[in-house]
Amino acid sequence: MGFFTRILGICKTKPPLHADCWSFKEGKVRIDLSKTPELAVSGGAIRLEGKALPVRVLVLASGNDCFRAFKNKCTHMGRRLDPLPDGPAIRCCSVSKSTFDENGQYISGPVQKPLTPFEVTVKPDHLEITIQ
Ligand code: FES
Repeated sequence: MGFFTRILGICKTKPPLHADCWSFKEGKVRIDLSKTPELAVSGGAIRLEGKALPVRVLVLASGNDCFRAFKNKCTHMGRRLDPLPDGPAIRCCSVSKSTFDENGQYISGPVQKPLTPFEVTVKPDHLEITIQ
């Protein structure tokens, strides 16, 4: 990711290809896995915003039906996050590059607090993410 991209705080992780693959209702995000090819590969990710969602959400796929979700807000200054392409870690898209492990715990950078994880329940055809 380039320096100017980092200055502008532009993340690599995109919204889902199919905007109708997810919904938010009564505190739960529901993601239709048949419409999210981004999450069919280990290392895949999407970011969810809008649709009355109270916070930005980053959803990560780790393979073997393992998914994680975090509040998509760096605990330093609030920039968006991306998974690292060569590992399970997560990095802020800003110049300071705060980095967290796959559980959202601090690895490096100016942050002081871990990421906020959300509970992910894997159902046969969809994911359910509980937003606190
Ligand atoms: S906002 Fe993430 S390191 Fe500063």
